[in-house]
Amino acid sequence: MSVSNIGDLIPSLAWVNRLNGLRKRVETNFQDMDSFLHEVVEEHIKKQRTINGDGSGENEEEDFVDVMLGIEKDSSFGIPLVRDNTKAIILDMFAAGTDTSYIVLEWAMSELIRHPNIMEEVQKESGRRHGTPINGWSARAE
Ligand code: HEM
Repeated sequence: MSVSNIGDLIPSLAWVNRLNGLRKRVETNFQDMDSFLHEVVEEHIKKQRTINGDGSGENEEEDFVDVMLGIEKDSSFGIPLVRDNTKAIILDMFAAGTDTSYIVLEWAMSELIRHPNIMEEVQKESGRRHGTPINGWSARAE
């Protein structure tokens, strides 16, 4: 069940968040998320050590987290970046990239359901482009 964040609305009543359990839940969620991000970063550091050490991971591609770790070490970058910044940016990218994409898909699907004529056009086009029948339509069916 959701709980209103009284402390955010009226700071002098922030103590209510302790009584209704919201503070505890926020702290637990933070700990869970932080330990997940910690693991992600540690995995990448371990991978980098392997590449630099015995060279067995030479063909591994550098990803976003590797780039962020590189910036942490690079003092010429202009803005000092510490581990907490890296974790926050990873979380930001993850939230920005997942929420938006699934919400757009969900809206697109619900609009297609509301407009069957457009849905039919999309299914035909998909069949033409990919040659894969979707709901009975395919390039060969036309
Ligand atoms: C359909 C998918 C997406 C939509 C509708 C969407 C929409 C938006 C919107 C409206 C903004 C704010 C722009 C502004 O006010 O300046 C934004 C910013 C941003 N988006 Fe997306 N986005 C999508 C996908 C993604 C993906 C896949 C990523 C990363 C993997 C991403 C990362 C970001 C980041 C990092 C920002 C902040 C940019 C900045 O202010 O410097 N987004 N997005």
